[in-house]
Amino acid sequence: MTTWYDEAFRPGSEIQGKWNGRVYVVERLLGAGSNGIVALVRRGAARFALKAGHETVDHQSEINSLHAISLTETSFKNFLIDADDMTVNGKEISFYVMRYIEGISISDFIHKRGQDWIYVIGSNLLRKLTEVHKSGYVFGDLKIENMIVSKYGDVDLIDFGGVTPKGRAIKQLTEVYDRGFWNMGERVAEESYDLFSFAILLLKSLDQRKRFNGFSNILPQNRDMDQLTTIMRENPVASHIAPFLHKVLNSEFSTSQEAYQYWRKLVSGKKNAQSILKMPWLKICFAASIFIFGATVYIYW
Ligand SMILES: Nc1ncnc2c1ncn2[C@@H]1O[C@H](COP(=O)(O)OP(=O)(O)O)[C@@H](O)[C@H]1O
Ligand SMILES: [Mg+2]
Repeated sequence: MTTWYDEAFRPGSEIQGKWNGRVYVVERLLGAGSNGIVALVRRGAARFALKAGHETVDHQSEINSLHAISLTETSFKNFLIDADDMTVNGKEISFYVMRYIEGISISDFIHKRGQDWIYVIGSNLLRKLTEVHKSGYVFGDLKIENMIVSKYGDVDLIDFGGVTPKGRAIKQLTEVYDRGFWNMGERVAEESYDLFSFAILLLKSLDQRKRFNGFSNILPQNRDMDQLTTIMRENPVASHIAPFLHKVLNSEFSTSQEAYQYWRKLVSGKKNAQSILKMPWLKICFAASIFIFGATVYIYW
């Protein structure tokens, strides 16, 4: 089956913005989600991710959220690079260009590197959420597909289609990650809304028996926390973080900052020590270099 973007997004194709005039050369497709199609592109020596939207209204609202968050003094600063329209077969399609994030999904990462990595990745993801929340927004559609894990467990959020100012109704969601689906709270943009999805995201990535696959078909009256508790009991890593997960699933933390502090305490100690042991040599070298630098300064002072 051919799609509207086959031609425009073929490797080597040029995409020219109608208004800003910048030209991007397609390297390859990165993914196609429900709201758009994303390609890795080049402009000169720089690489970016370019997303073209199917639905103009949704796409524009996504650009607006991304634009707002790109202006904040956070790690999202300058995430949005360009926004423009292109013409494909006589039809105008809007697109935007953002930072390209190299990495893999959290599920693939822990599958390759081990489930203990959840402690490090979880901390990094919570810190990202804290940044979004401190800027006055809620991420909204937090799920495995909307984040990328890179080397050393660093985390980046992608897909800002669900970003909503605090207090408003959640505008985009994915059923099993939504607390409304589980009858566990309202679809309102609160920090606790993202934290609920965060807990589901962790459980889903740890769920080796693929229990989640059956969850979307459960009747509303049968959706309850017992199904999630079963996964926590089956999996050693999930059971280690179960006290945190229970609190989050019951919307007990009102801020992600509070949740982050609780998380840090819970994962420090035995398990954290393990993750430090697994710290890649580069990070250890970096720590050692700082120590040597400090010692040199001390000796020569
Ligand atoms: N900035 C980016 N860097 C690298 N890959 C990306 C980036 N943005 C999106 N992708 C890839 O494209 C896929 C679809 O993008 P996404 O924005 O989630 O689309 P949708 O809104 O349709 O779900 C993502 O799951 C990811 O694999
Ligand atoms: Mg997505």
